Amino acid sequence: MSNSTATPLNEQRTVQQRVAALLEQMTLAEKIGQMSQRNASEGYAPEYLADGLRAGVIGSVLNVVDVDSVNELQRLAVEESRLGIPLMVGRDVIHGFKTIMPIPLGQAATWNPDVVRDGARVAAMEAATAGINWTFAPMIDISRDPRWGRIAESLGECVLLTSELAVAMVEGFQTDDLAATGSIAACAKHFAGYGTVESGRDYATTNIPETKLRNVYLRPFNAAVDAGVATLMTSFSDLNGIPATANDFILRQVLREEWGFDGFVVSDWDSIRQLQIHGLTANDKDSAFEAVAAGVDMEMAGDAYSKHLEELVMEERVDMDVIDQAVASILRAKFQLGLFENPYTDPAKLPAIANENAMQTARQAALESVVMLKNDNDVLPLAISSLESVAVIGPLADAPYQQLGTWIFDGDIDLSVTPMHAIHSLIGRDVDVRYVRAMENSRSKVSPSFDEAVEVAAGSDAVILFLGEESILSGEAHSRADISLPGDQAELVRRIRATGKPVVAVILAGRPLTLTNMVDEVDAILFAWHPGSMGGPAIADLLFGIESPSGKLPATFPRMVGQIPIYYSQKNSGKPPSWDKIAHIDDIDSRAPQTSLGMSAFHLDTPFTPLFPFGHGLSYARFDYQNLWTSAREVKFGGTLTIGVDLSNHSEVAAVEVVQLYVRDVVASVTRPVKELKGFRRVQLEPGQTVCVEFELHTDDLSFYGRDMRKTVEAGEFHVWIGGSSATELRTEFWIVGE
Ligand code: BGC
Repeated sequence: MSNSTATPLNEQRTVQQRVAALLEQMTLAEKIGQMSQRNASEGYAPEYLADGLRAGVIGSVLNVVDVDSVNELQRLAVEESRLGIPLMVGRDVIHGFKTIMPIPLGQAATWNPDVVRDGARVAAMEAATAGINWTFAPMIDISRDPRWGRIAESLGECVLLTSELAVAMVEGFQTDDLAATGSIAACAKHFAGYGTVESGRDYATTNIPETKLRNVYLRPFNAAVDAGVATLMTSFSDLNGIPATANDFILRQVLREEWGFDGFVVSDWDSIRQLQIHGLTANDKDSAFEAVAAGVDMEMAGDAYSKHLEELVMEERVDMDVIDQAVASILRAKFQLGLFENPYTDPAKLPAIANENAMQTARQAALESVVMLKNDNDVLPLAISSLESVAVIGPLADAPYQQLGTWIFDGDIDLSVTPMHAIHSLIGRDVDVRYVRAMENSRSKVSPSFDEAVEVAAGSDAVILFLGEESILSGEAHSRADISLPGDQAELVRRIRATGKPVVAVILAGRPLTLTNMVDEVDAILFAWHPGSMGGPAIADLLFGIESPSGKLPATFPRMVGQIPIYYSQKNSGKPPSWDKIAHIDDIDSRAPQTSLGMSAFHLDTPFTPLFPFGHGLSYARFDYQNLWTSAREVKFGGTLTIGVDLSNHSEVAAVEVVQLYVRDVVASVTRPVKELKGFRRVQLEPGQTVCVEFELHTDDLSFYGRDMRKTVEAGEFHVWIGGSSATELRTEFWIVGE
């Protein structure tokens, strides 16, 4: 058991041998213990768990973040139990531990895997100081429904963007050596389909046809598995009639058999016992049976496994092999994490919390996450030299907690630098900065403070409005049916607009919002998500032109809720809409025959386009795309095509553009989306510079799951676009040829 310094292959074998040797010594109770995770949050002090730890019937704990308590729990497990098996110590470290990065949806708006990886690295090192060795992240549920509160935790609507950023997050948490100090196990969640719950109501049902499941929702998980993610978590939701926590199709057939996953699967919080509430089982015992049979290796927080698995094995309903496989996969992770060698945490061996690198990483992530949605007459950036005064107004200008966003159990509010403070430090010496909060919170109604805000705005040279949602309005169990600005914010905007001053809106929110009723009332909009600890300085740098915005939308912004789901990779339908094939509700003659109206896939009461498309985001530079080319008109199966474009910066500003490559498979045996992102790259351009941006496209990149549910690439015509958003019209064609 000790020669672990040999080649990687030997190491691998050594882990297997060590797992096998340990398994042989374990009683059934000890095995089931490894499959049971206990809540150890406040009120569940070590003493409460001590008996179970000594008996070796607890394999993991979650929600304890005090390093002394964690070390004590490990000591009880390692030194006082018969076999001395260390604990997995889990925690939701979703977008930072103490230093908070932008919410994951904001991180996705950076389109920058490096920034995302760096953020996860900082989070892992900070969390490791508390003895945490396992995070329940990344959340990689594709979501095309901004009503869903958990879209904040997701990486957006796109398969490719989510997959690439998921891999980056896994790499950041785990590094290439799980046993290294400061590496923690990642958990890709929620497997699978959770992002498409009906009407965006959290926990509701999902119904996803298998082709869509495979072509969309499962793909990021496949990418995470290929990247070596240590664990997966099941979803709370029902998937096609079988709740994900009992869904053997995804957990056994797809995950284990097709993808060869050898990590372990944890349930969501008590989601095994919830199988009964779903109506799948009659009692906890049957729930334990369904979950373990489907391949859920560890139960989070509940007690269905600890109470019933033993009996199920005795009754021979559950085979001992099933138990052994589950336990082996958990033990493997513990060996890979090096926990048997190093169960204890010494925070002094890790970098300090919130060190300069951590804060700089948070600032860079926030900077790149901000999306400039509009900028009429180049009102932004605001020129410090031409301003004497600026009004800073709104409930989110100076709200250190709110800017952190959802899922920040351990986030340190004292680290938050608010926009208000950052603006003061940046321009306070030269410009009179006048702050009026105007609303107690984002949901407040009209009050006399509105009058004060209008008065201050009217007397200032420009107005910066900080609007949006408080963090509590998104996240788990916080879905909304109306996703416009809450409270009377739109009224505040209208009143400020009436002053005639230039108005810039900075919106902090956990989801795409419907901004239709305010978008024309402001000159510019910076959409900043919940930007985390360093949101303030990042926003100030953008407002005053120290930096240029480079974020791009990772999710479509609808005009109104009734358009949802609206996303860029939709199917064409047999009657796609176009401007000459639609009618507007206000123009209809009520006696006109039905067929005289537009006969296409549109709504009578809103344009068929979104307010802002996926991939949209403006810059202070002016970018121009020309000369789209492919290295050949035809490519054979297995071949690679180069696709390029000339990108110019016709401005005086150096800036980054996210160049996006989209493809459409024109004719296929199952219909394909009108556009799918197949590549993206952040490109820095100096003023006046032109560069040729190239992408390599392999025919495998064009694969999809067809009628027989196998991955296939089909010959024929493909359209390809390159541009600065999914609405780009710069297009050419190529063909895949051959057998
Ligand atoms: C959430 C998970 C989370 C778990 C543990 C659940 O309610 O759905 O995403 O990891 O709680 O906190």
